[in-house]
Amino acid sequence: MSVWAIIVAAGVGERAGGGVPKQYHDIGGQPVLRKTVLAFLNHPEIAGVRVVFNPRHDDLYQKAVGDLNLPAPVRGGKSRQESAYLGLQALEDNPPGFVLIHDAARAFVSQDVISRVIETLKRTRKGCLPALPIPDTIKRREGSAVAETVDREPLILAQTPQGFKFEDILKAHEAAIGKGLTDDAAVAENAGFEVVMVKGDKANIKLTVKEDFIIHVTDVRTGTGFDVHAFEDGDQVILCGVKIAHDQKLKGHSDADVGLHAITDALLGAIGEGDIGDHFPPTDDKWKGAASDIFLKHAIKLVTDKGGRVSSIDLTLICEAPKIGPHREAMRKSIAAITGVEVARISVKATTTEQLGFTGRGEGIAAQALATVIFNE
Ligand code: CTP
Ligand code: MG
Repeated sequence: MSVWAIIVAAGVGERAGGGVPKQYHDIGGQPVLRKTVLAFLNHPEIAGVRVVFNPRHDDLYQKAVGDLNLPAPVRGGKSRQESAYLGLQALEDNPPGFVLIHDAARAFVSQDVISRVIETLKRTRKGCLPALPIPDTIKRREGSAVAETVDREPLILAQTPQGFKFEDILKAHEAAIGKGLTDDAAVAENAGFEVVMVKGDKANIKLTVKEDFIIHVTDVRTGTGFDVHAFEDGDQVILCGVKIAHDQKLKGHSDADVGLHAITDALLGAIGEGDIGDHFPPTDDKWKGAASDIFLKHAIKLVTDKGGRVSSIDLTLICEAPKIGPHREAMRKSIAAITGVEVARISVKATTTEQLGFTGRGEGIAAQALATVIFNE
């Protein structure tokens, strides 16, 4: 027996605000509704998806999912219950064996949750909903005063998609009209159908208020950096702010800390801020012999000023000598101290080039870095 999905998307999203209904807000570069619909279209056991919408939002609807392989959307009603019922009626001509009803506003639904509901629905032929225990202490209030603490053990948080035998839930909806029920499990319970639980998912939240979008939409950006400095006569090199005794030094306008330069460029790259030379021109005598932590601190400030946070830094030093291994931890700590990023998010690696090329001949040191920066929108 086939499984269809009904996505109820006819609400106005009053609590979320923002000019257009929340199912058309952008989330990580795509409309909420598109992300939700794709989760079901991409699921191998879903035979088809029917969206219930408000025709007043047709332009938004077309922009969001007009290019996807969907049957015409169904006109919704004044309540969620009415919208779900209209969606079910639209499937009546060619009824599926099972149906999953899902909130458009739950865009983070995982393939696993969908699979769990389908598996249990097919096995038990009972109504099925994803549920979670309640993490907070629950109180009953009287006005603005706390009346008592409620035992939360028997309480659950109900999510969607909720799955049913199509005929059962269609009949149950007929009996629920006007009762103000807020999910389809309540409709099934009202009709005396048994509903069982499967494990829900904390990420499967119903985007409801503006803050839900702030917490969940993260903008992750990455940048790469690469730098080379040649050796010249000397007695130590400075790598990642760590002084290492060596029979040569690195040649450069500043202190030639090739590791910090690569990291600085990676951070600038992640935020589209050019490169180290744009910010600290080598023609400017001011930077002669400068300690390179100045450059890195500047890049961190630019990231922070733009509202970003460094999530990770990964650096590879490429040379035959000096040996990096004994200094790796000191380098990670030094980068952490300069950037304010915790050591666990900083990686320093090293490789030789098997005596090939300029690094292999010991003519200099190369460094490449990758930085990940996170923005909350
Ligand atoms: N929904 C619907 N038809 C309605 C009301 C709600 O299809 N008449 C849908 C919403 O689009 C949403 C889901 O039901 O995907 C859950 O409802 P809710 O989170 O309450 O969304 P809204 O009603 O749009 O939001 P609000 O209550 O803040 O106005
Ligand atoms: Mg509502």
